[in-house]
Amino acid sequence: MLKGKHIILGITGSIAAYKAAYLTRLLIKKGAEVQIVITPAGKEFITPVTLSALTGKPVVSEFFTANSGEWHSHVDLGLWADAMIVAPATASTIAKMANGVADNMLITTYLSAKAPVFVAPAMDLDMYKHPSTQANLKKLQSYGNYIIEPASGFLASGLEGKGRMEEPEKIVEYLEQFFSKGALFAGKRVMVTAGPTYEKIDPVRFIGNYSSGKMGYAIAEAFASQGAEVTLISGPVNLSCSSAIERIDVKSAKEMCAVAMSKFETSDIAIMCAAVADYAPKEYSTSKIKRHGEMTVELVPNPDIAATLGAVKKENQILAGFALESDDEESNATLKLQKKNLDFIVLNSLADKGACFGYDTNKITIISKNGEKESYPLKNKKEVAQDIVAYTLKLKK
Ligand code: PMT
Repeated sequence: MLKGKHIILGITGSIAAYKAAYLTRLLIKKGAEVQIVITPAGKEFITPVTLSALTGKPVVSEFFTANSGEWHSHVDLGLWADAMIVAPATASTIAKMANGVADNMLITTYLSAKAPVFVAPAMDLDMYKHPSTQANLKKLQSYGNYIIEPASGFLASGLEGKGRMEEPEKIVEYLEQFFSKGALFAGKRVMVTAGPTYEKIDPVRFIGNYSSGKMGYAIAEAFASQGAEVTLISGPVNLSCSSAIERIDVKSAKEMCAVAMSKFETSDIAIMCAAVADYAPKEYSTSKIKRHGEMTVELVPNPDIAATLGAVKKENQILAGFALESDDEESNATLKLQKKNLDFIVLNSLADKGACFGYDTNKITIISKNGEKESYPLKNKKEVAQDIVAYTLKLKK
């Protein structure tokens, strides 16, 4: 995917600059041609000799090479690139990029670049959280740049939180996914729900279910690989997703409903794959309930998220749900489709071996709102997700 691609790697003054050497190595291993552009502060953290030994090219930092008087054209560089990555990107460089403060070679190259630009922030957690950094990142996104979100963990400051530059392997994965994208859903916003919900009884107990999230995560990845901008609203699961996907973690059905409502407004497509608990305990006990013979937990209905979205769905939006059934499968699924005002429903049955909860495989039948049915054999959930993407494509508005 990256073979033959011309990539500018912009390096700025962060301790994470040491990771840029490994990133360079990975890009070159993938067959990319890499040109490093480094800020003066970046050179304090990693030596240009290391970087030019890896790329086989002189590192560019100044507008002129002092001894030869050679002029480095940021315009030519900008035109040469198929992609520009700024990794690590400090708060200062992000602010300069957002506001066009062209006081070094990296920023002039950025302003000249016609190629997609990817920014991998690296800074302390409070700097990252600061409203000015967040506003600058939003500005970059509004210019069409891609933000490769930092990870959470131990920071050089000794503090712990979000701000670590994403690992080089993940950055390469992000780029590969970007370049491998089909354009089938380019420009479309897709929302996917996945996993179970947990409904708390007391500080140690909850009502949940066996959903692993595998089906929903596969759907999110399948849409992302077709160019869609994907938001994954995830219940508690043990999975990770590619950094190209915006993942929002929730626990209860109420939390999932609130996030889904706010995201649905700007979504073109929503696929409701989560196994949402239909009921939650009426009372939450703030202290651990002691054992004392028989007990009853009174339950109250949770919001029906799919039905809530179905009630406000606009003409140009596609809303799909899943039906997890154990008997009278097709008629139950059709009733859900109608009640929730869905465009189609994906039926999977607990009666089918290898289907539904936890398995890597699933067996589905898609029922449209016109009553048309398409049945598929047992397949890997990744392939099932592709079938769902292909089905959605037929309805794309
Ligand atoms: O996560 P895996 O282990 O990979 O398993 C996948 C799966 C079995 C969870 C998945 O394929 C699946 O069937 N998801 C839907 C499970 C479910 O809750 O089905 P349901 O028939 O109860 O709900 C019907 C639809 O309404 C679903 O789209 C559900 O997300 C939605 N719903 C349900 C209840 C509720 N309160 N709000 C909802 O939005």
